Amino acid sequence: MEAEGQARLQLAGVSKTFGAVRVLDDVSLDIAAGEVHALVGQNGSGKSTLIKVLAGFYQADPGATAVIDGAPRELGDPNDIHAAGVRFVHQDLGLVPALSVVDNLALGHGYARSQGMRINWREQRAAARRALAAVGYELDVRRLVDDLQPVERTAVAIARALQSAHGEMSILVLDEPTATMPKGEVQRLVQIVRAVRSRGVGVLYVSHHLEEVFELADRVTVLVDGQRVGTERCSQIDHKKLVTMMTGGVVDDVRRRAVGTRGKTMLSLERLSGAELTGLDLQVRAGEVVGVAGITGSGREEICSLVFGSKPRRGTVTVGDRELPPSRPDRSCRAGLALVPANRLRDGVVIGLNVRENLNITTTRGLAKFSFIRPGLDRRQAAALGTKMSVKAPSLDASIEALSGGNQQKVVLGKWLQTNPSVLLLDEPTQGVDISAKAEIHRLIDDAVSQGLAVLVCSSDEAELERLCDRVVVLREGRAVAEVAAPDIRTRQLIHLSLGLTA
Ligand SMILES: Nc1ncnc2c1ncn2[C@@H]1O[C@H](COP(=O)(O)OP(=O)(O)OP(=O)(O)O)[C@@H](O)[C@H]1O
Ligand SMILES: [Mg+2]
Repeated sequence: MEAEGQARLQLAGVSKTFGAVRVLDDVSLDIAAGEVHALVGQNGSGKSTLIKVLAGFYQADPGATAVIDGAPRELGDPNDIHAAGVRFVHQDLGLVPALSVVDNLALGHGYARSQGMRINWREQRAAARRALAAVGYELDVRRLVDDLQPVERTAVAIARALQSAHGEMSILVLDEPTATMPKGEVQRLVQIVRAVRSRGVGVLYVSHHLEEVFELADRVTVLVDGQRVGTERCSQIDHKKLVTMMTGGVVDDVRRRAVGTRGKTMLSLERLSGAELTGLDLQVRAGEVVGVAGITGSGREEICSLVFGSKPRRGTVTVGDRELPPSRPDRSCRAGLALVPANRLRDGVVIGLNVRENLNITTTRGLAKFSFIRPGLDRRQAAALGTKMSVKAPSLDASIEALSGGNQQKVVLGKWLQTNPSVLLLDEPTQGVDISAKAEIHRLIDDAVSQGLAVLVCSSDEAELERLCDRVVVLREGRAVAEVAAPDIRTRQLIHLSLGLTA
């Protein structure tokens, strides 16, 4: 492969097999100094595995080599890779939420001391500000990480990666850094990554958002089923070509569902309030999709749990003509409410159960006869659902942890769709899901809505709201500040309204 200026990283011949499954097959990749190199591919194509091999978390199959800044390095040895200046910002960021920005930055680096070894807080704060300034960021470093917006937390994690370098940071690896960020915040992350690049660092950037790839990356490498199908200069391909490389075809995610005849009101919220949300009134009718937009902290993130009863609330929630008691998710389920939570890896899948058990967990009663699960039916149902959701799994008996992030999410969505709820609450339904699967999930939601399901969808992806919704309510500082209806829902306008900018 052609090298690009001075190569920071040259990976070659990386293969990885788990049991009999080859997850990476002879992958090569190089990153130049001052280059942002995007790594894209469908769910399960091997992106995170490649990163984990580089990090030394997984041992590659024999034959893989790594050269960093001209020197051969030992793959599989995390210390050697760290010493070479490779830094990873994983999706959970690895920060301590209960501590301040200053403390989090010092954790990787040590505190500034005065004579007598007392911590010099003034110097420590100044150092923290300098670390953030190095990534082009400014914020009050005394704030707790818990109180920061996602992009601010990511900035702290990147600043820490930069300053913790023994010597200099050579390579920064970001695995889906914007998965939980509204578009308005993504723009700020783009600035940070550009600031890092301008220092000569090579950046490996994994994302399912192809707009970001085109905005930020110099080159892009595409993985399909663990094989590198190509590396292209971003200025020389377009969106369609990239999608074709990833999927072998063009993904069609256009709304086909007409704004239909709506049935009676299925979900009614009156004066709903929580920690951030204040006095929301909202109705969703059968056959209707209502969206909620808003930046982090606007109240968007808590609506689903407030409605479902998994978080304490004020105000009333009515499903059909039944008012639901607060803090009783079990009663909510029985009343016909289903929730697909945002943090699916934490709240959605049951670790320790296999893929089939996770898929069928919501419908176990229906699978049983005289208290015995009918194994044939159990397998058939899981297989059918797995196919419908295009879940890529080694087998139905594989442990759920062996699935890629996006595929775990499809399992969670699938298990709730098959409970035939009357009201479906979706929190970030396609976060971390690849573009084909996203289109597929959107179609499944359309189908269910056409049959009379009422859907409330909260999403930080404004384009998704435009695609799915009949109406969108925009929240700012806990209150509904605008409502837009199809066919006039526009992504840009939703972003502007969320940020409080005049269009
Ligand atoms: N520990 C494991 N044991 C068996 N198979 C695994 C294991 N970890 C990952 N896999 C398989 O490796 C493949 C690649 O997974 P990986 O997590 O690298 O995908 P990805 O490209 O990061 O996908 P996503 O976009 O969904 O995050 C998947 O098919 C997954 O099932
Ligand atoms: Mg991944």
